[in-house]
Amino acid sequence: MKIGILISGRGSNMVAIVDAVNSGEIADAEVAVVISDKTDAAGLDKARDRGVETVVVERRGRPREEHDAEIISELQKRSVELVCLAGYMRLLSPSFVQAFPNKIINIHPSLLPAFPGLDAQRQAFDAGVKVTGCTVHFVDELLDHGEVILQQPVAVHEGDTVETLSARILEEEHRLYVAAVKMMASKFPSS
Ligand code: GAR
Repeated sequence: MKIGILISGRGSNMVAIVDAVNSGEIADAEVAVVISDKTDAAGLDKARDRGVETVVVERRGRPREEHDAEIISELQKRSVELVCLAGYMRLLSPSFVQAFPNKIINIHPSLLPAFPGLDAQRQAFDAGVKVTGCTVHFVDELLDHGEVILQQPVAVHEGDTVETLSARILEEEHRLYVAAVKMMASKFPSS
């Protein structure tokens, strides 16, 4: 199963997937490309250090459909079969979603449908919930929306700050995303 990973920043979830593929924990899979919409995404160097090809496709004020068409073409050129959004902070156009039916997944740092959008950890913290977590889900045209694949709850502790809570959620994100990709790979190509 050929995987394409889309990032916009740090890329720690991308690293978790690449490392799990390289170590054989995720079997029968290959990360064919990491694509960023930002030239300065810190994740780009981390992907290159791991021997993964990287491509930058900047938005440059173009309409979303046009930007997405270029990304779709980069993915199709490499025969990508599963697209993983890993901190990719843009909504996908309907044509992108339709180009990879049931083959685009995303990780989000909350128990969706609670707290979609930016700063989900802060949203949960400010709401005073006792449990939040992370979700891997299929992607549709809506923000942080689509059928849930896996979820992991994370307790909010007394004395937590947004930072300590976010760090604990991130550790779980890495585990959950690897588990979800492993599941997709094991069911491939029927999943
Ligand atoms: C992660 O916490 C991910 O769940 C979140 O962005 C961060 C990216 O970190 N994604 C979203 O909020 C999507 N709505 P990373 O670049 O280190 O993987």
